[in-house]
Amino acid sequence: MQKLNLTITLETYNNDTELSVLENKLLNEARKATYKSYAPYSNFHVGAAILLDDNEIITANNQENAAFPSGSCAEQSAIFWVGANYPERIIKAIAVIARPGKEDIFRGVPPCGACRQAMLEYEVRQKSPIRFIMVGANQQILITESVGDLLPIKFTDF
Ligand code: THU
Repeated sequence: MQKLNLTITLETYNNDTELSVLENKLLNEARKATYKSYAPYSNFHVGAAILLDDNEIITANNQENAAFPSGSCAEQSAIFWVGANYPERIIKAIAVIARPGKEDIFRGVPPCGACRQAMLEYEVRQKSPIRFIMVGANQQILITESVGDLLPIKFTDF
């Protein structure tokens, strides 16, 4: 028996101000998008912001449903909107953040498995990597160069 170690690389930033101007703005737009989320069942408001090739930013959020889990995560709301409206555009980056409860307090939300798979589909489709920006412990910012890094041994491997 042999062991195969898989590693992923995360860029880490101590806070927003260490980010590039554009990625700082993207994360801020994700923060703002949490205020339009519809999350009466979980009270967990998630915002996603997508940076397109011409630096236009598209935002969306989670939309819940009484028939849980019929709702949509923020990442999927955002990426499916881009797919539906701008099928030819290249996505450069996606930022995601959560605001639990009613306060202006934010925390990170590592994307769920289904969101990882959904985002990966667009990365494969556009044949160029999508940077993924999320928040870790103590408001540290974590970035992967590619959403594929979030999903080792993916469905389409081998
Ligand atoms: N949620 C997201 O929007 N993105 C994720 O990656 C994980 C979870 C939402 C779904 C649901 O509305 C709420 O967070 C609680 O799970």
